[in-house]
Amino acid sequence: MTEAGTDAEFSEESPATAWQTAESSSNRRNERADQVEELESSELGTKEYWEASYDTEIQNYKDHGDVGEVWFDEDSQLRIIRWIEKQEDRIKQDDAIIDLGSGNGMMLVELAREGYSNLTGVDYSPKAIELAKAICTDQELSITYKVADLLDDAVVRSLGKFSVVHDKGTYDAISLNPDDSKAMRELYIGAVRQLLRDDGMFILTSCNWTQAELVKSFAEHFVLHVVIPTPTFKFGGSVGNVVTSVVFVKK
Ligand SMILES: C[S@@+](CC[C@H](N)C(=O)[O-])C[C@H]1O[C@@H](n2cnc3c(N)ncnc32)[C@H](O)[C@@H]1O
Repeated sequence: MTEAGTDAEFSEESPATAWQTAESSSNRRNERADQVEELESSELGTKEYWEASYDTEIQNYKDHGDVGEVWFDEDSQLRIIRWIEKQEDRIKQDDAIIDLGSGNGMMLVELAREGYSNLTGVDYSPKAIELAKAICTDQELSITYKVADLLDDAVVRSLGKFSVVHDKGTYDAISLNPDDSKAMRELYIGAVRQLLRDDGMFILTSCNWTQAELVKSFAEHFVLHVVIPTPTFKFGGSVGNVVTSVVFVKK
């Protein structure tokens, strides 16, 4: 794997993420112009998987103070936070920010430490929310956490509107759902549309979808605003990204 980053600040090499499937990213074929090919399903697309995983993580946190997995590593998280901080004109510190599928909540913890004050995390796993609340209390931070299934329209409507909607790894998880991933992805896209203010920004980090696939999938309601640079690698003459971070705004 060869480094081919365009920006020295963002050119560090990251290991491939364990849950990337062999079929993931730009290796997939037979894409039609108007749609993307679904990913191969996985247990990571199920609530049972996440409940079991956070059950273990809560135990680890209680036993050793280990907060657990930060998906796509802490550098991915830091890159997003640095980018948000640079948007002082558009993103104020008291703007409402929601993290979709917040897991252990470490993205929100870092934002709170940087001074952002209107933070909400939602996850459909009660165990994830229990873990996130415990970390937040121990660190004496003020973050709102709610158990919420993003595919439940009534639940999503009850959450309100946000200036920034953030997702790292949750759209990926939903895309791996073994039942009907296309329908689930469409529900998720509708949820983001519902949650985002008309002048808001949706920040999405994925390890399973390319930038082109994300743009295509969200095209009905969203347009690409900016791509946050992520590390690249070169393989067989082609350059690819280990993760993709994009910012969408409403059409
Ligand atoms: C890969 S983890 C990412 C966790 C966190 N965002 C991070 O970056 O460390 C995916 C998260 O999405 C949550 N999730 C998956 N489907 C969801 C849904 N339909 N509604 C809410 N949360 C969901 C899982 O419980 C899990 O916490």
